[in-house]
Amino acid sequence: MILVTGGAGFIGANFILHWCAASDEPVLNLDALTYAGNPENLRPLAGSARHLFVHGDITDAALLRRLFAEHRPRAVLNFAAETHVDRSIHGPEAFVRTNVTGTFHLLETARAYWRQLNAAEREAFRFLHVSTDEVYGTLGPDDPAFSETTPYAPNSPYAASKAAADHLVRSYHHTYGLPVLTTNCSNNYGPHQFPEKLIPLTVVNALAGRPLPVYGDGRQIRDWLYVGDHCAAIRSVLRSGRPGETYNIGARNERTNIDVVHATCALLDELAPAPARGVRDAQGRPIERYAGLIAFVADRPGHDRRYAIDAGKIGRELGWRPAETFATGLRRTVAWYLSNPDWVDKVQSGAYREWLGRHYGEEMR
Ligand code: NAD
Ligand code: DAU
Repeated sequence: MILVTGGAGFIGANFILHWCAASDEPVLNLDALTYAGNPENLRPLAGSARHLFVHGDITDAALLRRLFAEHRPRAVLNFAAETHVDRSIHGPEAFVRTNVTGTFHLLETARAYWRQLNAAEREAFRFLHVSTDEVYGTLGPDDPAFSETTPYAPNSPYAASKAAADHLVRSYHHTYGLPVLTTNCSNNYGPHQFPEKLIPLTVVNALAGRPLPVYGDGRQIRDWLYVGDHCAAIRSVLRSGRPGETYNIGARNERTNIDVVHATCALLDELAPAPARGVRDAQGRPIERYAGLIAFVADRPGHDRRYAIDAGKIGRELGWRPAETFATGLRRTVAWYLSNPDWVDKVQSGAYREWLGRHYGEEMR
């Protein structure tokens, strides 16, 4: 079986759903169920013998040792992390704890386990660490996209904690020979993404008539990848990636944030017109077009201006290509949120509203 950490979160859950649809190999899913972890994401696998969920923390070394000994995974895929840049600015400690210390404990446990495997099992074992393009820092408008050899220059506590974890992973290959793989991916979007992130925040706020917050001038650029394409890329790196290598993953979909928000609003206008739903803004006025809710707000401190990924290596070496364009992926995403109002209601707990009030101001609660 494979061990997936963080499998109740956005990308981890999408990965497990894809995995179980495509393979008979069982998945052991270890997740601490933080605010971002949601067992509802895995509801289609309820009762399946191929998905075993364990509620636990990757910083718990004793638990990790027990799980490795009992389940003897042939691969570990580390998705578990604190992931929201804004939260890392408000409170970095949890990011160091999970992203750095947690990855360290996972590596240590994997190393001890891997050493006592027989030669064939040792050869086949993989430790795949899921990371981000944010470790490379920020680009100017004419800079080439990030490649696997771009120097690390993380700018937020989140990015720094992911960079630290990536360095630990690298060192376990170089020093101990552990067969590691690291993937550095651009911004994901798709079903099951927690609504603190830009695209689902825009969808959920628009439908509720709340402001659509855009930081600074909204001209920052992100490189968007549909989550299903990211999951397919991870499967191909696990299958055929060379141990010790890193692979950048992205789809050359650079967009300014304001364009992303407008594109999302245009789809909502088409699929769920505000007048037909009776959507009103915070002052009780009826909404004609969702873009009317856009509100420019204070910029994120240290906000990276531009990310762009050069995914040439994974294309050349492993033959991976994204299947979705931004237009098709965004349409699928908006449609998913419109079809899953219960999921959206449940994730907007009191704790989430408390975060909205603390980060954006009380009117956003
Ligand atoms: P997410 O925040 O939606 O989910 C994270 C999951 O990890 C949650 O289920 C949470 O409960 C779990 N978790 C957190 N701390 C834990 C701990 N100590 N022990 C066990 N489980 C814990 O995150 P996501 O967006 O799905 O990201 C998954 C991974 O992909 C992360 O490593 C992230 O850095 C990376 N990544 C994300 C993106 C993106 O755009 N979302 C892009 C590139 C890379
Ligand atoms: O690049 C990969 C990274 O993408 C992942 O490693 C992170 O885990 C993931 O959260 C994401 O980070 P970003 O900070 O880019 O994503 P977020 O959705 O928070 O923001 C996207 C852009 O939109 C960013 O430039 C900030 C801006 N933004 C975000 C929010 C939440 C706004 O303008 N307004 C907002 O309210």
